[in-house]
Amino acid sequence: MTTQKLWGGRFDKGTAPMMTVFSDSLHFDQRLWATDIRGSQAYAEALVSASVLTSEECQILQEGLAKVAKEWEENTFQIQAGDEDIHTANERRLGELVGPVAGKLHTGRSRNDQVVTDLRLWLRDEIDDLREHLTKAIRVMIAKAETYIHILMPGFTHMQVAQPTRFSHWLLSHAWALQRDLTRLIQIRSRVNVLPLGSGALVGNPFPIDRRRLADQLGFDDITHNSTDAVADRDFVAEFLFCASLSMVHLSQLAEDVIVYCSQPYGFMQLGDEYSTGSSLMPQKKNPDSFELIRGKSGRTLGALTGLMMTLKGLPRAYNRDLQEDKESLFDAVDTWSSALQIATSALLSLNCDSDAMAAAMHDHMLATDVAEYLVRRGVPFREAHHVAGQAVKQSDQAGCKLADLSLDAWQTLHDQFDESIAGVFDMQASVESRDVSGATSRRAIKEQVQMLKLRLGNPTAFCVE
Ligand code: ARG
Repeated sequence: MTTQKLWGGRFDKGTAPMMTVFSDSLHFDQRLWATDIRGSQAYAEALVSASVLTSEECQILQEGLAKVAKEWEENTFQIQAGDEDIHTANERRLGELVGPVAGKLHTGRSRNDQVVTDLRLWLRDEIDDLREHLTKAIRVMIAKAETYIHILMPGFTHMQVAQPTRFSHWLLSHAWALQRDLTRLIQIRSRVNVLPLGSGALVGNPFPIDRRRLADQLGFDDITHNSTDAVADRDFVAEFLFCASLSMVHLSQLAEDVIVYCSQPYGFMQLGDEYSTGSSLMPQKKNPDSFELIRGKSGRTLGALTGLMMTLKGLPRAYNRDLQEDKESLFDAVDTWSSALQIATSALLSLNCDSDAMAAAMHDHMLATDVAEYLVRRGVPFREAHHVAGQAVKQSDQAGCKLADLSLDAWQTLHDQFDESIAGVFDMQASVESRDVSGATSRRAIKEQVQMLKLRLGNPTAFCVE
């Protein structure tokens, strides 16, 4: 005897056991139980105004659905063979609790519009949590940048020492990337938060349900306007996965910096014990595993995005079962991004700076550009000044001395615009302070960028271009 399916009327044979395992999604989509119930409760009310249900029937359904929700909440919901997905499981249980009136709930509705309604509702709520995590991460970075504003460190390009910078400037460079993720997430939310319910299987609902009212009740900003598109569209999942992937790439880049700066040849930073692990063989090891895992996990979210795009690309219009593949990777991406953000935030809080190690790594070749700028201030064209400063670097390398230790004679042989004031160029602090335009490294400019970031955090929507 095969289990009765909701759609079994035209079938003679039951589903092959192997096919059931292949097809059922309840083991992962039960995560949508609460949104599925919420959607059904609102839909029952819509059926009353469409004169499909009486108010009494609606009340019975609402109460029944609340009982089903309680079972999920208390972990007492009994999954039965034949529960294909969260939608059929909830409907089956509702029938057991309230009797045949449960059979009226699905009038005019299809699992095609139901599943995408559930998913949009669920993702909207997750976005609100992720927004909090992103905001907290940025706030921690700002606080750290403010505390350590006095600490100078070498700035790198191509992993070669480049020019002096501030620890704050380095850290805030990562905060801005997360701030863009926050803006993107807020923009995506409005495209996620659109109601597809009322689209039926693909051609809409034959009963006069008030979709606007349904949208209001469920907190959606808008409704979809083409029922065929509504059941097929997973752009909102793809956009979210892109946003999560890009943010994971940002976290991975932050992780890479921290891992390098915590390594012994650098020694710029030390990660707290709580976010490090040891080696089973080498007793001295303290490894930055929290950040290594963040870097590693960025691959998963990128995989989810690529996988979904592949799933979508060959689909004919309207709902196809391929779309069931949207959920597992979305759930995983939400979990991965959320935990990576929270771990990064706490691990950053535990991070200590070693300003002496940073100072020791400030090779004075990093001031070669300042030497060129010295000449520029004396009217020498930059290209010529760049060449002269390069020759000075070569001479100091050949002499095995610091750039600052070249004699005045040596400087003046290189260019007649040099005088004893060249000695004043070899000051890391002065170099950092001389960059005072908006977005640069002077103390004033750093304080300005902190203000700009705080402004955006205080009112993020104001900075979202429509
Ligand atoms: N569980 C399916 C999904 O996740 C929804 C069911 C739609 N199935 C169907 N045969 N129309 O997409």
